[in-house]
Amino acid sequence: MKITEYIDEVRGLTAQARAEGRRVALVPTMGYLHEGHLSLVRAARESVSGVGAARESISGVGAEADNRVFVVMSIFVNPLQFGPQEDFEKYPRDLARDQLMAASAGVDLLFVPSVEEMYPSGPSLTLIQVAEVSEGLCGAARPGHFTGVATVVAKLLLICQPDEAFFGQKDYQQLMVIRQMAMDLCIPTRIVSVPILREKDGLAMSSRNVYLSPEYRLQAPVLYEALCRGADAVLSGETDYDTICALVRDCIAGSAAQVEYVEIRDREDWKRPERLHQKVVILLAARLGETRLIDNILVGDRGERI
Ligand code: PAF
Repeated sequence: MKITEYIDEVRGLTAQARAEGRRVALVPTMGYLHEGHLSLVRAARESVSGVGAARESISGVGAEADNRVFVVMSIFVNPLQFGPQEDFEKYPRDLARDQLMAASAGVDLLFVPSVEEMYPSGPSLTLIQVAEVSEGLCGAARPGHFTGVATVVAKLLLICQPDEAFFGQKDYQQLMVIRQMAMDLCIPTRIVSVPILREKDGLAMSSRNVYLSPEYRLQAPVLYEALCRGADAVLSGETDYDTICALVRDCIAGSAAQVEYVEIRDREDWKRPERLHQKVVILLAARLGETRLIDNILVGDRGERI
């Protein structure tokens, strides 16, 4: 695995990979990697090699990396997407550990730019604002957050020019924002969503889980339990928006988690459905102490929870 801080080097190496007939796949991250990130790398490999990569364990994928895809992972804690009162400074970082994990997962190129490399003239004067999709839910609690995300992802896509870019479904609104941005700006990269990876007790994997005290960590699975209860009710035929949101909130109410929002959206067009159907996503954000967690559940169109 090669490591670089420099945009020019990424451009050179991705151009070379394309000239060799390889597809380029991008996995953008903010580091402090966990199995969820590694599942994005595995998905990047599988998108080219079909079921081939699935036969190996996550940690063994790199051993037989498929040469038809060139996987670039970026690690960049993007200051533009953090509000002034947010956790940019204390966001967990461990580059040495990330390097080992990325290499064993089969990343070909690790791009770890500095803030100066990404924003050479200071705060970016050009910002990408995706209206509507960025509004409400996390966008309401974190003003400017999705503008920061869309701007940095657009830069990463322009730097790497990947065939595909892989994002976790856990950040569902982010995924919708990035899809809309790519469509509106005619960016040809296919934006691929990868299912949420969960701990054994249901908590969605996230770099921020490290902030949870042991007591809050024990309580955190209530968020997924509540989402499952909401999804089950939709699957049982409940069509009323407020009833489902109340059910999810009630399930969390006895715990230490403070709900910020529970919302339901159409999975495809992100509209708030008048009456619920079985192609919706239920989303929530909640705080356990100082830690803000988000999670969601897709109610599948064949009646399953994803
Ligand atoms: O999901 C994340 O880790 C970040 O928002 C992303 C997409 C890498 C942009 O900084």
